[in-house]
Amino acid sequence: MTARVFLNGQWLAAEDARVSVMDRGFLFGDGVYEVIPVYSRQPFRLEQHLARLQHSLDGIQLANPYRLDEWIGFVTQLAGEAEWEDQSIYIQVTRGPMAVRNHAFPKEITPTAVILAEVMNTPPANQREQGIAAVSAADIRWLRCDLKTTSLLANCLLRQLAVSAGCVETVLFRDGFLTEGSASSIFVVKNGVLLAPMKNHLMLPGITYDVVLELAARHGLPHEVRDITEAETRNADELWMCSSTKEVLPIVTLDGRKVPNGTQSAGAGGTPGPVFAQMYAWYQEFKATVMRAG
Ligand code: PDD
Repeated sequence: MTARVFLNGQWLAAEDARVSVMDRGFLFGDGVYEVIPVYSRQPFRLEQHLARLQHSLDGIQLANPYRLDEWIGFVTQLAGEAEWEDQSIYIQVTRGPMAVRNHAFPKEITPTAVILAEVMNTPPANQREQGIAAVSAADIRWLRCDLKTTSLLANCLLRQLAVSAGCVETVLFRDGFLTEGSASSIFVVKNGVLLAPMKNHLMLPGITYDVVLELAARHGLPHEVRDITEAETRNADELWMCSSTKEVLPIVTLDGRKVPNGTQSAGAGGTPGPVFAQMYAWYQEFKATVMRAG
């Protein structure tokens, strides 16, 4: 069975779920979205994802078409009936269709709301065990990167830079500071201290980022949340990326240069570091505890 798709209050077969070509999401990228990981049919950090959805909707001045308890009901229902145990649930809300193409908002707005499930592919073991390669680029996105909008062209172009170079992620710098990845949050480890860029309008407030910082606090790993320079990033002992679908992954080369990851000698490194191994274990243990609690 292919999971049904939620479209504006109706549950439909995917091939029957259709949206107008005049939808502002299609024509302008005028919408917001969320990606929620589901493990063993249990949505992970659902309320936090829905709170961020509200933040994104507020940021684009679009009224939420559903109450929190309604969203929870829809997502839980889909998680229960989709064909996979582990899923990634995608939510999108756009400002809906317009009669005539016009940048200004229509007077009457009928938002388009979609929820669909896809199989969750956590990263293959070799990415976790051997680490991944990343490139860097200037962060060319707009100044409201705290909103999870569907206008993702800049993110797509930036991500493609990595893929074209045979890498997994693009690490972004703006005005000499680390912001995030094209589709992930980035952490630095230096001298045993975990460094996280401070949340602001230049990065998405990552749900996985929050989990990583909570785990650091809980287990007494020294950590600092502050602006991180490009030089600090390039001289990191360890670099990690994290997101709802990738969980936490070690970056072992940046622009072809090995990240030392705990090794001291020049030219060594290029394998995952010890602090990453610790965080990965804490993350898996935390996930298992949350899932057991139900
Ligand atoms: N993206 N920063 C950006 C630009 C992202 O697109 C994402 C996730 C993150 C990490 O956020 P979270 O931990 O809440 O997933 C940070 C999702 C997975 C996507 O667009 O598919």
